[in-house]
Amino acid sequence: MDIAIITGASSGLGREYALKLAENFPEVNEVWLIARRKALLDELGERLSIPAVSVPLDLTNNEDIKALSRKLEEENPRVRVLVNCAGCGYLGNVAETDPELLGRMTDLNMRAMTLVSRAVVPYMPENSHIVNVSSIASFCPNARMTVYSSTKAYVSSFSLGLREELRPAGISVTAVCSGPMDTEFLDIGGIKGNSKMFRTLPYCDPKKVAAGSYKAAKADRAFYTPRVFFKTYRVLAKLLPSTLVVKLAKT
Ligand SMILES: NC(=O)c1ccc[n+]([C@@H]2O[C@H](COP(=O)([O-])OP(=O)(O)OC[C@H]3O[C@@H](n4cnc5c(N)ncnc54)[C@H](OP(=O)(O)O)[C@@H]3O)[C@@H](O)[C@H]2O)c1
Repeated sequence: MDIAIITGASSGLGREYALKLAENFPEVNEVWLIARRKALLDELGERLSIPAVSVPLDLTNNEDIKALSRKLEEENPRVRVLVNCAGCGYLGNVAETDPELLGRMTDLNMRAMTLVSRAVVPYMPENSHIVNVSSIASFCPNARMTVYSSTKAYVSSFSLGLREELRPAGISVTAVCSGPMDTEFLDIGGIKGNSKMFRTLPYCDPKKVAAGSYKAAKADRAFYTPRVFFKTYRVLAKLLPSTLVVKLAKT
């Protein structure tokens, strides 16, 4: 059985990855949809043209990650596509943010992404693809989203390193560095209406980001950054001193 696994599939960008999967990877004949809200996963599964399995997991919970490992062991699938999309970001200065929320960002964005990758890679054959959802926030720390941007710097760095490790096995790894998207992320993170930066920046369309990510993965690209505006920002953030960029990149 050739499958795909998508985390964060219940809403936003992850949902679009599920909807665009079949047209991009016809070799996949089943998809495992992971998030906490099972009803949304079931509903999405019914809309897909290939069989979907809802796998309701809280990826910040160790036992749930072990449950994924057990399911892989039992079913022994060939995982042709892994999309690590589950993520969260909360607006606020570090010293004023509930420690529980700071921990949730590091647990979900870094720890879960790392451990899900560790669990899945042994089941990936040659010509498989990993898509890790990073962000433009990975280019330079964003004050008032310091922890979030730091977790995304980890995602990009992890992806680049893993890419080299998996090259001999013929598995591609692509980090997706999207700009803002109008998804639940903005409400959950307390961002909507509270950030001048988010009000000012151009937005990315999750449908286009999902399609562009798959194209980049199939072309074995290390990074995918949608929109010329954010591609330019990526280059400038590399060229200019980070002590200057950090002042301009405040959320
Ligand atoms: N929106 C933006 O502006 C933006 C910009 C750049 C990058 N990103 C990144 O894009 C990715 C997708 O975000 P989005 O914009 O699509 O936001 P979203 O609609 O809030 O989606 C987040 C997804 O993660 C899942 N999730 C949250 N906590 C989880 C947990 N503990 N265990 C398992 N799944 C969990 C959510 O499902 P449940 O609630 O059902 O668990 C949901 O499916 C994230 O990695 C985010 O950092 C977003």
